[in-house]
Amino acid sequence: MTRYTDVRRIATDHTTFSNDLFDVTPAGMHDPADTEHQRFVEIASRVLMCADPPVHTRIRSTFRTAFTPDAVERWRGAVLDATTTLLGEFEPGREIDIMPRLAADVPVAVIASILGVPRDVWGNFRSWSFAYASTFDPMVQGERRDEAIRTSLVLFDFLADLAEQRRAHPADDLISTIVQTRTDDGDLLSEAELIAQIALLLVAGNDTTTNLIGNGITLLLDNPEVRAEIAADPALLPKTIEEMLRIDPPLHLTFRLLTKDAIVGEQHLTAGTLVAPCIATANRDPRAFPDPGRFDIHRAENNKHLAFLHGIHFCVGAALARLEGQVVFEELLRHYPDFSAGSEPAVRRTRNAVARGWEKRPVRL
Ligand code: HEM
Repeated sequence: MTRYTDVRRIATDHTTFSNDLFDVTPAGMHDPADTEHQRFVEIASRVLMCADPPVHTRIRSTFRTAFTPDAVERWRGAVLDATTTLLGEFEPGREIDIMPRLAADVPVAVIASILGVPRDVWGNFRSWSFAYASTFDPMVQGERRDEAIRTSLVLFDFLADLAEQRRAHPADDLISTIVQTRTDDGDLLSEAELIAQIALLLVAGNDTTTNLIGNGITLLLDNPEVRAEIAADPALLPKTIEEMLRIDPPLHLTFRLLTKDAIVGEQHLTAGTLVAPCIATANRDPRAFPDPGRFDIHRAENNKHLAFLHGIHFCVGAALARLEGQVVFEELLRHYPDFSAGSEPAVRRTRNAVARGWEKRPVRL
C-alpha cells in the first residue's frame, strides 16, 4: 500500500489490520523439535510489536512513564556522552566509513547506557544485540539462524539476570523503571514478557537510528545549502530531522494481516491477506506533501510524515530517536564542520526488505 491516506488508515484501523504477525516474520521461523528454537520463540513471540489489543494495550502501558518526552530529555547527557566519546576517536581530515563507526555505535552505546548495562560488557552486548536483530532477517537461514538464536538466548539470559539485580537493588536506569512499572491492569509483566520487551528496545531502536544517521549524513552531503543553514542555526535541527525522516525513512516497509475482507483504495482484499504498508512512498505522496522529492527543512505545514507510523503501534522510542538525531548532527557539525564525501563510493543497503539505509558511507572528516 503506497498512498499516504491508505498507510495511515491501515495504521489506525488495528482491528481490521492486525499485528498478530510473529509466526509470519522470519524471527518466527523455528524448528518445533529444537529445544533452543522453542525457548527462543517462548520469549521472542511476546513482543508488543506483534500483538493486538488487549495484550498490546496491557504491555504498552508499562512504557507510559519511561518514554515520555520529558523522561527522554533526562537522557540527553547519556546521548551527548556517547556521541562525543565516539567522535573524539577521530581527527579532522581522516576518512572513515561512517556506518559501522559512528552510525551503528551511537544507538548501541546510548541504549546500553540508559538501560544500565555495565560498561565492561558493552562489547558483548553490541554483538548479542546484532545477533538478535538478525533473527528478523529472512536472509539468515540454517546454521546462521541456529547461531543467531543461540546468541539471542545469551542476550535473553543476560537481560533476565540484570532485571533480577535491579528488582533487588533499583538504580536510576531504564531497566529499574520497567521492572517496577505495573500495567494498567495493575499486574507486572511475566518474566518472558519483560525480557521480550527489553530485547525489543534493542532491535527496534538500533538499526533504525543507525539508518537515520547514515541517511541524514547523505542528505547533508547532497544538500550543502541546508548544511550551511543548520551549522549557522542549530535551532533548525529538529525540523531538519523530521524532514530527514520523511524523505528517507529508516524503516520503509511494515506488515499487517487482514482480519476481515476490506477495500483499500481500489483493491478488494480478503481476510488473511498480508498487507505491506510502504512508509517510504506514503512520505513522498504528492497529495500529502507538495514537491515531495525536495529536501525542504522549511515545510510550512506540520510535517506529518509516517516514519514512526501512527496509531497504537506508534514508535515507543520516537522521542529518543529524535534526540539522538539532534545530538549527533549538532556534534558532528561542531567537531567536523568541513566533513565531505569520502574517496570510496557509498553503497546502498539492498539485502534487507524493510530497512532503508547504507551499507557503506565513506566520509572525510
Ligand atoms: C529513527 C529511528 C526509529 C524509527 C524510524 C522507528 C520506526 C518505528 C516504526 C515505523 C514502528 C511501527 C512498526 C509497526 O507497527 O509496524 C516502530 C515501533 C516501535 N519502536 Fe521504533 N523507530 C525508531 C527508533 C526506536 C527506538 C530508539 C526505540 C527504543 C529504544 C524504538 C522502539 C520501538 C518499539 C518498542 C516499537 C513497537 C511499538 C508497538 O508495537 O506498540 N524505536 N518504530
